Amino acid sequence: MTAARWIATAGAPLRGELDVPGDKSVSHRAIMLASLADGISRITGFLEGEDARATEAIFRRLGVSIETPAVGARVVHGVGIDGLRAADGPLDCGNAGTGMRLLAGLLAGQAFDSELVGDASLSKRPMRRVTEPLARMGARIDTGEGGVPPLRVHGKQRLTGVEYENALASAQVKSALLLAGLYAEGQTVVHEPRPTRDYTERMLAAFGWPIEFSPGLARLSGGHRLRATDVHVPADFSSAAFFLVAASIVPGSDLLLRRVGMNPRRTGLLHVLRLMGADIEASNAGEQGGEPVADLRVRHAPLHGIDVPEVHVPDMIDEFPALFVAAACADGPTRVTGAAELRVKESDRIAVMATGLRTLGIAIDEAPDGATIPGNAGAGAVFGRGEVESHGDHRIAMAFAVAAQRAVGEVAICDTANVATSFPGFVSLARGAGFGLLGD
Ligand code: S3P
Repeated sequence: MTAARWIATAGAPLRGELDVPGDKSVSHRAIMLASLADGISRITGFLEGEDARATEAIFRRLGVSIETPAVGARVVHGVGIDGLRAADGPLDCGNAGTGMRLLAGLLAGQAFDSELVGDASLSKRPMRRVTEPLARMGARIDTGEGGVPPLRVHGKQRLTGVEYENALASAQVKSALLLAGLYAEGQTVVHEPRPTRDYTERMLAAFGWPIEFSPGLARLSGGHRLRATDVHVPADFSSAAFFLVAASIVPGSDLLLRRVGMNPRRTGLLHVLRLMGADIEASNAGEQGGEPVADLRVRHAPLHGIDVPEVHVPDMIDEFPALFVAAACADGPTRVTGAAELRVKESDRIAVMATGLRTLGIAIDEAPDGATIPGNAGAGAVFGRGEVESHGDHRIAMAFAVAAQRAVGEVAICDTANVATSFPGFVSLARGAGFGLLGD
Protein backbone atom coordinates (compact mmCIF):
# COMPACT_ATOMS: atom_id res chain seq x y z
CA MET A 1 0.00 0.00 0.00
CA THR A 2 1.39 3.43 -0.87
CA ALA A 3 0.91 6.10 1.75
CA ALA A 4 -1.55 8.85 0.80
CA ARG A 5 0.05 11.97 -0.65
CA TRP A 6 -1.26 15.39 -1.59
CA ILE A 7 -0.16 17.87 -4.21
CA ALA A 8 -0.92 21.41 -3.10
CA THR A 9 -0.52 24.62 -5.07
CA ALA A 10 -1.66 28.22 -4.76
CA GLY A 11 -5.38 28.31 -5.49
CA ALA A 12 -7.98 31.05 -5.59
CA PRO A 13 -8.86 33.57 -2.84
CA LEU A 14 -10.81 31.69 -0.18
CA ARG A 15 -14.49 32.47 -0.26
CA GLY A 16 -17.80 31.15 0.95
CA GLU A 17 -19.29 29.66 4.11
CA LEU A 18 -17.97 26.49 5.71
CA ASP A 19 -18.96 24.04 8.42
CA VAL A 20 -15.92 22.24 9.81
CA PRO A 21 -16.42 18.87 11.56
CA GLY A 22 -17.26 18.30 15.22
CA ASP A 23 -14.81 18.81 18.06
CA LYS A 24 -12.51 15.86 18.67
CA SER A 25 -12.00 16.46 22.40
CA VAL A 26 -15.73 16.80 23.03
CA SER A 27 -16.59 13.77 20.87
CA HIS A 28 -14.28 11.45 22.86
CA ARG A 29 -15.68 12.63 26.17
CA ALA A 30 -19.30 12.45 25.00
CA ILE A 31 -18.95 8.76 24.15
CA MET A 32 -17.20 8.02 27.46
CA LEU A 33 -19.65 9.76 29.77
CA ALA A 34 -22.76 8.71 27.83
CA SER A 35 -21.55 5.10 28.07
CA LEU A 36 -21.20 5.33 31.86
CA ALA A 37 -24.50 7.13 32.40
CA ASP A 38 -27.86 5.69 33.43
CA GLY A 39 -30.18 5.96 30.44
CA ILE A 40 -30.03 6.94 26.81
CA SER A 41 -27.97 9.91 25.60
CA ARG A 42 -28.15 11.41 22.12
CA ILE A 43 -25.05 12.96 20.60
CA THR A 44 -25.21 15.32 17.61
CA GLY A 45 -22.29 16.89 15.74
CA PHE A 46 -20.15 13.84 16.61
CA LEU A 47 -16.80 13.86 14.80
CA GLU A 48 -16.88 11.10 12.17
CA GLY A 49 -13.08 10.93 12.36
CA GLU A 50 -10.94 7.91 13.11
CA ASP A 51 -9.91 9.07 16.61
CA ALA A 52 -13.44 9.53 17.92
CA ARG A 53 -14.59 6.37 16.16
CA ALA A 54 -11.79 4.38 17.80
CA THR A 55 -13.10 5.44 21.20
CA GLU A 56 -16.65 4.59 20.14
CA ALA A 57 -15.53 1.11 18.98
CA ILE A 58 -13.80 0.54 22.32
CA PHE A 59 -16.98 1.27 24.28
CA ARG A 60 -18.93 -1.10 22.04
CA ARG A 61 -16.39 -3.76 22.94
CA LEU A 62 -16.84 -2.90 26.62
CA GLY A 63 -20.52 -3.80 26.25
CA VAL A 64 -22.17 -0.49 25.36
CA SER A 65 -24.79 -0.43 22.63
CA ILE A 66 -24.34 2.62 20.38
CA GLU A 67 -26.59 3.37 17.40
CA THR A 68 -25.77 5.63 14.45
CA PRO A 69 -29.11 7.01 13.24
CA ALA A 70 -27.39 9.50 10.92
CA VAL A 71 -23.96 10.86 10.06
CA GLY A 72 -22.70 12.77 13.11
CA ALA A 73 -25.43 11.34 15.35
CA ARG A 74 -25.14 8.66 18.03
CA VAL A 75 -27.61 7.16 20.45
CA VAL A 76 -25.72 5.72 23.41
CA HIS A 77 -27.43 3.23 25.71
CA GLY A 78 -25.56 3.95 28.93
CA VAL A 79 -24.72 0.96 31.11
CA GLY A 80 -24.27 2.89 34.36
CA ILE A 81 -21.08 3.72 36.24
CA ASP A 82 -20.31 0.06 37.04
CA GLY A 83 -21.86 -1.50 33.94
CA LEU A 84 -18.87 -1.94 31.60
CA ARG A 85 -17.64 -5.48 31.01
CA ALA A 86 -14.28 -6.88 29.99
CA ALA A 87 -13.43 -6.89 26.28
CA ASP A 88 -12.13 -10.04 24.65
CA GLY A 89 -8.73 -8.63 23.67
CA PRO A 90 -6.66 -5.43 23.34
CA LEU A 91 -8.52 -2.15 22.87
CA ASP A 92 -7.19 -0.17 19.91
CA CYS A 93 -7.04 3.60 20.44
CA GLY A 94 -5.66 4.16 16.93
CA ASN A 95 -3.84 7.51 16.71
CA ALA A 96 -5.63 9.04 19.70
CA GLY A 97 -3.57 10.20 22.68
CA THR A 98 -6.73 11.61 24.25
CA GLY A 99 -8.53 8.28 23.90
CA MET A 100 -5.70 6.30 25.47
CA ARG A 101 -4.86 8.65 28.33
CA LEU A 102 -8.47 9.23 29.38
CA LEU A 103 -9.23 5.52 29.13
CA ALA A 104 -6.22 4.72 31.33
CA GLY A 105 -7.94 6.64 34.14
CA LEU A 106 -11.42 5.35 33.44
CA LEU A 107 -10.39 1.69 33.13
CA ALA A 108 -8.20 1.85 36.27
CA GLY A 109 -11.43 1.92 38.26
CA GLN A 110 -13.05 -1.17 36.69
CA ALA A 111 -13.42 -4.68 38.07
CA PHE A 112 -11.61 -6.21 35.07
CA ASP A 113 -8.24 -5.99 33.32
CA SER A 114 -7.79 -4.15 30.01
CA GLU A 115 -5.06 -3.62 27.47
CA LEU A 116 -4.76 -0.39 25.46
CA VAL A 117 -2.80 -0.33 22.21
CA GLY A 118 -2.32 2.27 19.49
CA ASP A 119 -0.84 2.93 16.05
CA ALA A 120 2.86 3.55 15.33
CA SER A 121 2.69 7.24 16.35
CA LEU A 122 0.70 6.67 19.54
CA SER A 123 3.00 3.76 20.46
CA LYS A 124 5.87 6.26 20.83
CA ARG A 125 4.03 8.77 23.04
CA PRO A 126 4.73 9.21 26.76
CA MET A 127 2.21 7.60 29.10
CA ARG A 128 3.94 7.97 32.50
CA ARG A 129 2.39 11.41 32.75
CA VAL A 130 -0.87 9.53 33.44
CA THR A 131 0.28 6.21 34.88
CA GLU A 132 2.40 7.80 37.64
CA PRO A 133 -0.29 10.03 39.16
CA LEU A 134 -2.85 7.24 38.69
CA ALA A 135 -0.53 4.91 40.64
CA ARG A 136 -0.69 7.39 43.54
CA MET A 137 -4.44 6.80 43.54
CA GLY A 138 -3.84 3.04 43.80
CA ALA A 139 -4.12 2.18 40.10
CA ARG A 140 -1.91 -0.53 38.62
CA ILE A 141 -0.99 0.13 35.01
CA ASP A 142 2.02 -1.40 33.25
CA THR A 143 3.51 0.46 30.29
CA GLY A 144 5.80 -0.76 27.57
CA GLU A 145 9.53 -0.16 27.99
CA GLY A 146 10.30 3.55 28.29
CA GLY A 147 6.79 4.42 29.49
CA VAL A 148 5.05 4.08 26.13
CA PRO A 149 2.04 1.96 25.06
CA PRO A 150 0.76 -0.70 25.27
CA LEU A 151 -0.86 -0.08 28.64
CA ARG A 152 -1.95 -3.02 30.75
CA VAL A 153 -4.56 -1.75 33.17
CA HIS A 154 -5.20 -4.05 36.12
CA GLY A 155 -8.76 -4.07 37.39
CA LYS A 156 -10.10 -4.66 40.92
CA GLN A 157 -7.84 -2.04 42.49
CA ARG A 158 -9.08 0.11 45.35
CA LEU A 159 -8.64 3.73 44.29
CA THR A 160 -8.35 6.66 46.67
CA GLY A 161 -8.55 10.33 45.74
CA VAL A 162 -5.39 12.43 45.68
CA GLU A 163 -4.51 16.10 45.47
CA TYR A 164 -2.23 16.37 42.44
CA GLU A 165 -0.12 19.35 41.40
CA ASN A 166 0.45 18.71 37.72
CA ALA A 167 3.78 20.08 36.47
CA LEU A 168 2.42 19.91 32.90
CA ALA A 169 -0.44 21.96 31.52
CA SER A 170 -2.31 18.91 30.17
CA ALA A 171 -6.05 18.42 29.89
CA GLN A 172 -5.46 14.75 29.15
CA VAL A 173 -3.64 14.18 32.45
CA LYS A 174 -6.24 16.18 34.39
CA SER A 175 -9.05 14.25 32.73
CA ALA A 176 -7.47 10.83 33.35
CA LEU A 177 -7.30 11.62 37.07
CA LEU A 178 -10.86 12.97 37.19
CA LEU A 179 -12.21 9.87 35.44
CA ALA A 180 -10.32 7.61 37.87
CA GLY A 181 -11.69 9.87 40.61
CA LEU A 182 -15.24 8.79 39.73
CA TYR A 183 -14.27 5.37 41.13
CA ALA A 184 -12.11 6.58 44.02
CA GLU A 185 -12.85 6.92 47.68
CA GLY A 186 -12.70 10.56 48.74
CA GLN A 187 -11.71 13.66 46.81
CA THR A 188 -9.60 13.93 43.70
CA VAL A 189 -8.15 17.40 43.17
CA VAL A 190 -6.04 18.51 40.20
CA HIS A 191 -4.07 21.77 40.12
CA GLU A 192 -2.56 22.96 36.84
CA PRO A 193 0.37 25.29 36.17
CA ARG A 194 -1.79 27.00 33.51
CA PRO A 195 -5.49 26.37 32.85
CA THR A 196 -6.28 23.77 30.19
CA ARG A 197 -9.45 22.82 28.33
CA ASP A 198 -12.23 21.99 30.77
CA TYR A 199 -14.52 19.76 28.69
CA THR A 200 -14.33 16.84 31.11
CA GLU A 201 -15.39 19.07 33.98
CA ARG A 202 -18.20 20.77 32.04
CA MET A 203 -19.50 17.50 30.72
CA LEU A 204 -19.38 15.73 34.09
CA ALA A 205 -21.48 18.59 35.46
CA ALA A 206 -23.90 18.27 32.53
CA PHE A 207 -24.27 14.53 33.28
CA GLY A 208 -25.12 15.43 36.89
CA TRP A 209 -21.86 14.53 38.67
CA PRO A 210 -21.06 17.01 41.46
CA ILE A 211 -17.82 18.79 40.51
CA GLU A 212 -16.15 22.09 41.35
CA PHE A 213 -13.90 23.70 38.84
CA SER A 214 -12.31 26.99 37.94
CA PRO A 215 -9.41 27.80 35.59
CA GLY A 216 -6.44 25.69 36.74
CA LEU A 217 -8.35 23.66 39.35
CA ALA A 218 -10.80 20.73 39.38
CA ARG A 219 -12.20 18.81 42.32
CA LEU A 220 -14.65 15.89 42.59
CA SER A 221 -15.47 12.91 44.81
CA GLY A 222 -16.29 9.34 43.93
CA GLY A 223 -19.50 7.50 44.61
CA HIS A 224 -22.10 9.34 42.53
CA ARG A 225 -23.93 8.41 39.32
CA LEU A 226 -24.12 9.95 35.84
CA ARG A 227 -27.52 10.84 34.36
CA ALA A 228 -27.97 10.47 30.60
CA THR A 229 -28.10 13.76 28.76
CA ASP A 230 -27.94 14.99 25.18
CA VAL A 231 -24.65 16.40 23.90
CA HIS A 232 -24.41 18.84 20.97
CA VAL A 233 -20.80 18.83 19.82
CA PRO A 234 -19.65 22.21 18.45
CA ALA A 235 -17.42 22.54 15.36
CA ASP A 236 -13.77 22.01 16.21
CA PHE A 237 -11.81 25.26 16.61
CA SER A 238 -8.63 23.34 15.79
CA SER A 239 -10.05 22.37 12.39
CA ALA A 240 -11.30 25.92 11.80
CA ALA A 241 -7.76 27.14 12.57
CA PHE A 242 -6.40 26.01 9.19
CA PHE A 243 -8.98 28.16 7.41
CA LEU A 244 -8.41 31.12 9.74
CA VAL A 245 -4.74 31.09 8.76
CA ALA A 246 -5.32 30.30 5.09
CA ALA A 247 -7.82 33.15 4.59
CA SER A 248 -5.55 35.52 6.55
CA ILE A 249 -2.56 34.86 4.26
CA VAL A 250 -4.24 34.53 0.83
CA PRO A 251 -4.99 37.97 -0.69
CA GLY A 252 -8.62 38.55 -1.60
CA SER A 253 -9.99 35.95 0.86
CA ASP A 254 -13.25 36.41 2.75
CA LEU A 255 -14.52 33.28 4.47
CA LEU A 256 -17.21 32.52 7.02
CA LEU A 257 -16.80 29.56 9.40
CA ARG A 258 -20.11 28.67 11.01
CA ARG A 259 -20.86 27.73 14.63
CA VAL A 260 -17.27 27.21 15.74
CA GLY A 261 -16.58 26.11 19.34
CA MET A 262 -15.26 29.14 21.22
CA ASN A 263 -14.31 27.64 24.59
CA PRO A 264 -11.74 30.16 25.88
CA ARG A 265 -9.30 27.31 26.57
CA ARG A 266 -9.20 26.60 22.82
CA THR A 267 -9.13 30.01 21.17
CA GLY A 268 -5.54 31.11 21.89
CA LEU A 269 -4.82 31.22 18.16
CA LEU A 270 -7.57 33.79 17.66
CA HIS A 271 -5.91 36.16 20.13
CA VAL A 272 -2.48 35.56 18.66
CA LEU A 273 -3.58 36.03 15.04
CA ARG A 274 -5.34 39.25 16.04
CA LEU A 275 -2.15 40.44 17.79
CA MET A 276 -0.44 39.80 14.44
CA GLY A 277 -2.98 41.98 12.65
CA ALA A 278 -5.48 39.38 11.40
CA ASP A 279 -8.99 40.49 10.48
CA ILE A 280 -11.29 37.98 12.22
CA GLU A 281 -14.73 38.96 13.35
CA ALA A 282 -16.89 36.82 15.66
CA SER A 283 -20.66 37.18 15.36
CA ASN A 284 -23.86 35.33 16.14
CA ALA A 285 -22.42 34.25 19.51
CA GLY A 286 -24.48 31.61 21.23
CA GLU A 287 -24.33 28.39 23.16
CA GLN A 288 -24.47 24.84 21.93
CA GLY A 289 -24.71 22.07 24.52
CA GLY A 290 -23.19 24.26 27.23
CA GLU A 291 -20.28 25.38 25.02
CA PRO A 292 -19.89 28.88 23.54
CA VAL A 293 -20.03 28.97 19.73
CA ALA A 294 -19.79 31.78 17.16
CA ASP A 295 -19.51 32.39 13.44
CA LEU A 296 -16.03 33.55 12.46
CA ARG A 297 -15.55 35.79 9.43
CA VAL A 298 -11.94 36.01 8.33
CA ARG A 299 -10.58 38.29 5.65
CA HIS A 300 -7.09 38.59 4.26
CA ALA A 301 -4.94 41.07 6.19
CA PRO A 302 -1.25 41.88 6.34
CA LEU A 303 0.29 40.14 9.37
CA HIS A 304 3.29 41.18 11.44
CA GLY A 305 5.54 38.98 13.57
CA ILE A 306 5.25 38.94 17.36
CA ASP A 307 6.62 37.20 20.44
CA VAL A 308 3.77 34.79 21.19
CA PRO A 309 2.73 35.41 24.82
CA GLU A 310 3.33 32.17 26.75
CA VAL A 311 0.03 32.62 28.54
CA HIS A 312 -1.72 31.63 25.28
CA VAL A 313 0.32 28.47 24.67
CA PRO A 314 -1.98 25.87 26.32
CA ASP A 315 -5.01 27.54 24.70
CA MET A 316 -3.54 26.96 21.23
CA ILE A 317 -1.43 23.88 21.81
CA ASP A 318 -2.80 22.11 18.70
CA GLU A 319 -2.58 25.22 16.51
CA PHE A 320 1.20 25.74 16.29
CA PRO A 321 1.69 24.04 12.90
CA ALA A 322 -0.84 26.51 11.45
CA LEU A 323 0.67 29.42 13.39
CA PHE A 324 4.17 28.66 12.01
CA VAL A 325 2.74 29.04 8.50
CA ALA A 326 1.04 32.35 9.37
CA ALA A 327 4.30 33.55 10.94
CA ALA A 328 6.27 32.80 7.77
CA CYS A 329 3.90 35.13 5.88
CA ALA A 330 4.19 37.98 8.41
CA ASP A 331 6.31 41.09 8.40
CA GLY A 332 9.19 40.39 10.82
CA PRO A 333 10.04 37.37 12.98
CA THR A 334 7.68 35.49 15.27
CA ARG A 335 9.11 33.88 18.38
CA VAL A 336 7.45 30.90 20.12
CA THR A 337 8.65 29.89 23.61
CA GLY A 338 7.26 27.73 26.43
CA ALA A 339 5.88 25.15 23.99
CA ALA A 340 8.11 22.10 24.65
CA GLU A 341 4.94 19.93 24.72
CA LEU A 342 4.88 20.25 20.93
CA ARG A 343 7.71 17.74 20.85
CA VAL A 344 5.47 14.92 22.16
CA LYS A 345 2.34 15.40 20.06
CA GLU A 346 1.39 13.10 17.14
CA SER A 347 4.89 13.98 15.90
CA ASP A 348 7.66 16.25 17.22
CA ARG A 349 5.85 19.25 15.80
CA ILE A 350 8.75 21.67 16.26
CA ALA A 351 11.23 19.45 14.41
CA VAL A 352 8.81 18.30 11.71
CA MET A 353 7.58 21.83 10.94
CA ALA A 354 11.15 23.14 10.95
CA THR A 355 12.31 20.49 8.48
CA GLY A 356 9.36 21.06 6.15
CA LEU A 357 9.59 24.85 6.29
CA ARG A 358 13.33 24.69 5.51
CA THR A 359 12.54 22.51 2.50
CA LEU A 360 10.21 25.30 1.35
CA GLY A 361 12.92 27.93 1.84
CA ILE A 362 12.08 29.31 5.30
CA ALA A 363 15.14 29.66 7.57
CA ILE A 364 13.41 28.76 10.83
CA ASP A 365 15.46 28.67 14.00
CA GLU A 366 14.55 25.77 16.30
CA ALA A 367 14.72 25.90 20.12
CA PRO A 368 14.00 23.14 22.65
CA ASP A 369 10.69 24.80 23.60
CA GLY A 370 9.73 26.63 20.42
CA ALA A 371 11.14 28.36 17.36
CA THR A 372 11.78 31.70 15.70
CA ILE A 373 10.18 31.96 12.29
CA PRO A 374 11.49 34.71 10.03
CA GLY A 375 8.66 36.64 8.40
CA ASN A 376 8.47 37.29 4.70
CA ALA A 377 5.71 39.79 4.06
CA GLY A 378 4.46 40.98 0.70
CA ALA A 379 1.71 39.86 -1.61
CA GLY A 380 3.64 37.27 -3.63
CA ALA A 381 4.84 33.75 -2.97
CA VAL A 382 6.45 33.12 0.41
CA PHE A 383 7.22 29.42 0.15
CA GLY A 384 9.29 27.55 -2.41
CA ARG A 385 8.30 24.27 -4.06
CA GLY A 386 9.31 20.90 -2.66
CA GLU A 387 8.27 17.68 -0.98
CA VAL A 388 7.54 17.70 2.75
CA GLU A 389 6.96 14.87 5.22
CA SER A 390 4.02 15.04 7.61
CA HIS A 391 5.25 11.99 9.58
CA GLY A 392 1.67 10.80 9.69
CA ASP A 393 0.65 13.89 11.70
CA HIS A 394 -2.73 15.22 10.57
CA ARG A 395 -2.12 18.80 11.65
CA ILE A 396 1.29 18.98 9.96
CA ALA A 397 -0.22 17.77 6.66
CA MET A 398 -3.01 20.38 6.79
CA ALA A 399 -0.58 23.16 7.80
CA PHE A 400 1.56 22.51 4.70
CA ALA A 401 -1.54 22.47 2.49
CA VAL A 402 -2.20 25.98 3.85
CA ALA A 403 1.42 27.05 3.22
CA ALA A 404 1.14 25.87 -0.38
CA GLN A 405 -1.54 28.51 -0.98
CA ARG A 406 1.33 31.04 -0.90
CA ALA A 407 3.92 28.86 -2.65
CA VAL A 408 5.68 29.52 -5.92
CA GLY A 409 5.02 25.99 -7.21
CA GLU A 410 3.89 22.54 -6.18
CA VAL A 411 4.19 21.34 -2.60
CA ALA A 412 3.98 17.56 -2.30
CA ILE A 413 2.84 16.46 1.17
CA CYS A 414 3.59 12.86 2.13
CA ASP A 415 1.80 10.53 4.53
CA THR A 416 -1.52 12.35 4.73
CA ALA A 417 -3.87 9.46 5.56
CA ASN A 418 -4.10 10.46 9.24
CA VAL A 419 -5.90 13.68 8.36
CA ALA A 420 -8.97 11.43 8.65
CA THR A 421 -8.31 11.15 12.40
CA SER A 422 -9.52 14.70 13.03
CA PHE A 423 -10.76 16.21 9.76
CA PRO A 424 -12.49 13.78 7.41
CA GLY A 425 -13.34 15.56 4.17
CA PHE A 426 -10.63 18.20 4.53
CA VAL A 427 -9.53 18.00 0.89
CA SER A 428 -12.96 18.54 -0.62
CA LEU A 429 -13.92 21.27 1.87
CA ALA A 430 -10.62 23.10 1.28
CA ARG A 431 -10.92 22.75 -2.51
CA GLY A 432 -14.48 24.06 -2.38
CA ALA A 433 -13.22 27.14 -0.54
CA GLY A 434 -10.53 27.80 -3.17
CA PHE A 435 -7.48 25.76 -2.15
CA GLY A 436 -5.27 24.29 -4.84
CA LEU A 437 -5.17 20.72 -3.46
CA LEU A 438 -5.19 17.30 -5.06
CA GLY A 439 -5.21 14.01 -3.19
CA ASP A 440 -7.52 11.68 -1.34
C1 S3P B 1 -6.57 17.20 24.41
C2 S3P B 1 -5.59 17.82 25.14
C3 S3P B 1 -4.31 18.29 24.55
C4 S3P B 1 -4.41 18.39 23.03
C5 S3P B 1 -5.06 17.17 22.43
C6 S3P B 1 -6.46 16.99 22.95
C7 S3P B 1 -7.79 16.76 25.11
O1 S3P B 1 -3.30 17.37 24.88
O2 S3P B 1 -3.12 18.56 22.46
O3 S3P B 1 -5.12 17.30 21.02
O4 S3P B 1 -8.80 16.44 24.44
O5 S3P B 1 -7.78 16.72 26.35
P1 S3P B 1 -2.44 17.50 26.27
O6 S3P B 1 -3.33 17.20 27.40
O7 S3P B 1 -1.35 16.49 26.12
O8 S3P B 1 -1.92 18.91 26.27
